[in-house]
Amino acid sequence: NTGETSGRYPSVIEFGKYEIQTWYSSPYPQEYARLPKLYLCEFCLKYMKSKNILLRHSKKCGWFHPPANEIYRRNDLSVFEVDGNVSKIYCQNLCLLAKLFLDHKTLYYDVEPFLFYVLTKNDEKGCHLVGYFSKEKLCQQKYNVSCIMIMPQYQRQGFGRFLIDFSYLLSRREGQAGSPEKPLSDLGRLSYLAYWKSVILEYLNSTGMCPHDIATTLQQHSMIDKREDRFVIIRREKLISSHMEKLKANPRINEVDPESLRWTPLL
Ligand code: COA
Ligand code: NA
Repeated sequence: NTGETSGRYPSVIEFGKYEIQTWYSSPYPQEYARLPKLYLCEFCLKYMKSKNILLRHSKKCGWFHPPANEIYRRNDLSVFEVDGNVSKIYCQNLCLLAKLFLDHKTLYYDVEPFLFYVLTKNDEKGCHLVGYFSKEKLCQQKYNVSCIMIMPQYQRQGFGRFLIDFSYLLSRREGQAGSPEKPLSDLGRLSYLAYWKSVILEYLNSTGMCPHDIATTLQQHSMIDKREDRFVIIRREKLISSHMEKLKANPRINEVDPESLRWTPLL
């Protein structure tokens, strides 16, 4: 299945122990994209014309993780924060790779204004690329994700959700509500809708509060409003931040810890 017959350039890549059918074309230089198969180093993401060149490269590459600080590690998963300005070639190669699975235009070369949060699954061989999201360093519109991609061999295993959740953790640390850059792809939209729904349902479930009392509170503090024929929820930044500051200054002395409860309901 070469590019000639599939209409995709390149139509197949070799990546670590995987041979992956691409979904869309990506603007690799002509002489690379037109090959029946493109060979990528799974660690530095350099693209090559043949298996032999890749084998020779692998002997001297010396990379076993993304070129950056590891900012998160738990069990066999890590997240690295790669600066587009510092590791330009790596980030360009990451964008070219991502484009193989993205239907819309994305950036490939102007990577300097972005940070790339790279998720890896680690074993004795190294930190294997699972996926990533990019984020603008200085974003006027409060986008917390510019582009997100999970490698096909790792899709539908909750890694997309993991990175979305991670992007909101960063937003909370920044004290800033964020949202992904639009337009979303079909798969991107499905993943975000599923994430938002689960967060809100789980939150409502965890309060144990009845809807009437929730509505009263939202109304009392002008967090809900009716505009023409629709209701809007208002996130009152000052109300939230002054509440959080007060709580930080005076932590509750007597807090209920759910883990300490030894009890089952009667019914
Ligand atoms: N079909 C139906 N629902 C899907 C889906 C698919 N192919 N992929 C994701 N979803 C929905 C499901 O509700 C899923 O939950 P479930 O598996 O429990 O049903 C939820 O999204 C999260 O799935 P998850 O396994 O965490 O997502 P993922 O690891 O497969 O990654 C993307 C999701 C969008 C990052 C991945 O599909 C991808 O890289 N696509 C190509 C690049 C792209 O389009 N990026 C978005 C640009 S805006
Ligand atoms: Na999925």
